[in-house]
Amino acid sequence: MTDTPIDDTTMNEPPVNEIPFDILQHATLTLPDGQTADLPIVVGSEGEKAVDIARLRATTGYITLDDGYTNTGSCMSDITFIDGEKGILRYRGYPIQEIAKRCSFVEAAQLVIWGELPTPEQRHHFSDILAENSALPEDFLPHFSAFPPHAHPMSILSAMVNALQTYDLPGMTIDSDEEFERVSATLISKVRTIAAASFKSSIGEPIMYPRYDLRYVENFLHMMFSRPYRDYVPSAEATRALNLFLILHADHEQNCSTSTVRMVASGQANLYASVAAGVCALWGPLHGGANQAVIEMLDLIQESGMSTREYITKVKDRTAGIKLMGFGHRVYRSYDPRAQILKQACDDLLESLHITDPRLAIARELEEVALEDDYFVQRKLYPNVDFYSGTILTALGIPPEMFTVIFAIGRVAGWIANWKEIHDSANSRIYRPRQIYTGPNEREWINRFQRERNTTQGFIVPEELRSHTA
Ligand code: CMC
Repeated sequence: MTDTPIDDTTMNEPPVNEIPFDILQHATLTLPDGQTADLPIVVGSEGEKAVDIARLRATTGYITLDDGYTNTGSCMSDITFIDGEKGILRYRGYPIQEIAKRCSFVEAAQLVIWGELPTPEQRHHFSDILAENSALPEDFLPHFSAFPPHAHPMSILSAMVNALQTYDLPGMTIDSDEEFERVSATLISKVRTIAAASFKSSIGEPIMYPRYDLRYVENFLHMMFSRPYRDYVPSAEATRALNLFLILHADHEQNCSTSTVRMVASGQANLYASVAAGVCALWGPLHGGANQAVIEMLDLIQESGMSTREYITKVKDRTAGIKLMGFGHRVYRSYDPRAQILKQACDDLLESLHITDPRLAIARELEEVALEDDYFVQRKLYPNVDFYSGTILTALGIPPEMFTVIFAIGRVAGWIANWKEIHDSANSRIYRPRQIYTGPNEREWINRFQRERNTTQGFIVPEELRSHTA
């Protein structure tokens, strides 16, 4: 690595961050070779501070290294604010508690995407487009039967969202605000139809068509649980709980899947391709897949007869490689406000539906034991959004494989909003991080038959076959 400035013309351009205010302060970085870099301090609207290093490499030859992006602000965004120390979450400035109490999911999605609470006219107009675009094209439906039985619905969802672009956005570009509204509504509406269809096909039941007369959440529950010969009518409590679940999952700033959407969008990929990538990124158990993993953990504790203390002891024994799923968060160092709301909602729902789920008792006990334990206290690990959400979805009759799919239905709003920020920004550049290379230095080519066994590859080509291998 060189310590001298790099002659990189693109890097000699002014800082590319769209800083909407004057830079008042700078930090000075002194490097071991004596170079100094004058770095602007960027302050967000809630007073969070960042050192803008956009020109660091151009002026010094150094890059920054931040494995897992623990300390990296990847963008400036107007959408969601989190204060992890204080447990604050706001969409477009509105506290999550307020939104959870007063909004429907569709209104929350409009707020997240367009930045303002919709007027009654905007709300009705959007509902109309949602209803108009809720059905999947007829020749799209046979795709569902092409998946093997028991295919994971997240796999189906990501494939189908990507495939939907060929029907709904064949030109791939969005050229007007009206077109963006239509495409956003279509995606929000159809992602729910795809989710229900993937569930129906996984259990071998006919796919149900959406109904024009039902609102967003009721329509989803209808497509999940109605049968051609019997309508499912969800209770008000079930509708309210699912509405709340979707609101609380609508956005969460630069998490793994949203960063993925922005990454894909930065290469100017279309909205559907970017959202499909978000679905894939969400799937992992450290991210959106944690809701399924929590229920599996609670089932395991119940079925094994292990006490919650014994389970916590296993978690603390790092050699076992077990985590307390639904606990911990990269940003929150206090109780996740979404978990607080869902914990209460879980109690209310089970009580109103007269359901006793032993998993809720195990979850409560795990929380109590963990929050008194030094391991969790010192690391500031608290329940996150996934800790109680699975118990709510189970009470609604939704199977664990669908949990992350339902997370995705909510998060589509945030993915669209983040895609829009990239799409609308005049200064957006492709996301392309650098790396510190740690592999071999340049070396001489080895002829095929002089090669030693590669210890990482784990096989040896037998002598007699060597002349046949390409
Ligand atoms: N159980 C046991 N130990 C944990 C846990 C946990 N759930 N979470 C973190 N730790 C430990 C971790 O081992 C580390 O210990 P040490 O400092 O001794 O090495 C310390 O706490 C700091 O954790 P970290 O792994 O550096 O934290 P991170 O920011 O890299 O990871 C996380 C965040 C959410 C991936 C992690 O807490 C985790 O794996 N939790 C369980 C999975 C989960 O519930 N994920 C859902 C997250 S919320 C939904 C969403 O994705 O938005």
